[in-house]
Amino acid sequence: MHTYSLLAPAKINLYLEILGYRPDGYHELAMVMQSIGLADRLTLRPLSTETIRLHCQHPDLPIASDNLAYRAAQLMATEFQDMFSKYGGIEITLDKRIPIGAGLAGGSTDAAAVLVGIDLLWRLGLTREELQTLGARLGSDVPFCIAGGTSLATGRGEILSPLPDLADLWLVLAKYRSLHISTAWAYQTYRQQFGQPYQPHPDRPAGERVRVGALVSAIAHRDHRQLGLHLTNDFERVIFPAHPQVQHLRDVLGAQPGVLGAMMSGSGPSVFALVESQALAVAVQTQVQAQLADPDLDVWVSQMMPAGIQIITAD
Ligand code: C5P
Repeated sequence: MHTYSLLAPAKINLYLEILGYRPDGYHELAMVMQSIGLADRLTLRPLSTETIRLHCQHPDLPIASDNLAYRAAQLMATEFQDMFSKYGGIEITLDKRIPIGAGLAGGSTDAAAVLVGIDLLWRLGLTREELQTLGARLGSDVPFCIAGGTSLATGRGEILSPLPDLADLWLVLAKYRSLHISTAWAYQTYRQQFGQPYQPHPDRPAGERVRVGALVSAIAHRDHRQLGLHLTNDFERVIFPAHPQVQHLRDVLGAQPGVLGAMMSGSGPSVFALVESQALAVAVQTQVQAQLADPDLDVWVSQMMPAGIQIITAD
């Protein structure tokens, strides 16, 4: 029996367009999702009793069934009851490094890592597709977090088409530590303000709805300048008026020399700027920290990652 340590990367959205409301209560989306180097670490080991235990050093994180990683273990225990009985319980240790409530899919990637880890622990031999189908039951971003890399995502975010890697790009990520945004609130507010009927962003030419093609083409051609120009996130329309400091942060990031483009990720409030080298990313980080001089502001340098959940060690 093994103990597995897994790396669970965060994601950013390079594109997020809300197309409409679905009968199942979710929203129809067109997104481009990207794994980044900022990642949680999870260790999974077997327990001799049939229980699920989650430990986490982060004081604000729930460690029972309101935590998505815990729910992922519960789902596996229910789906594979005989294996749960045969191998005993699971102890999960979560080293939380991705900020919570940030629009970076931190909870989803932890859940993805638990699915992958339990598949290994119990020698289930599930395919990636089978793991992703289970993941979709936990959250819309979980299937992407399992595969990672760069991907077009449609449906409610669970239908994935892989895109060429953007591994040579760096990013500067920034978030006000005390500001958290509920994804459910962001969707609900968007629907109230723009959803009857769904109004495309005013910058878009009339009749043109899904315009993710320009960004996909920029990715395919490794045209970083065009990539920066076509970053899109519909949630900025509701988050910026509610939290003007997030818009200011994006504008400050976007104004730094060498930045290809800056945007909010997911339902926010984290924002990122894309650059072409680590040295440029560090320069932007230093400059933004000096310019805003806010003790509540966290700024990270990170890199695009070509994969999702990865095994660090298996003992
Ligand atoms: O799927 P997940 O549980 O991560 O979704 C979190 C919240 O975002 C839910 O309230 C869900 O209704 C909303 N959501 C949505 N449309 C999507 C994805 C999420 O309305 N495509």
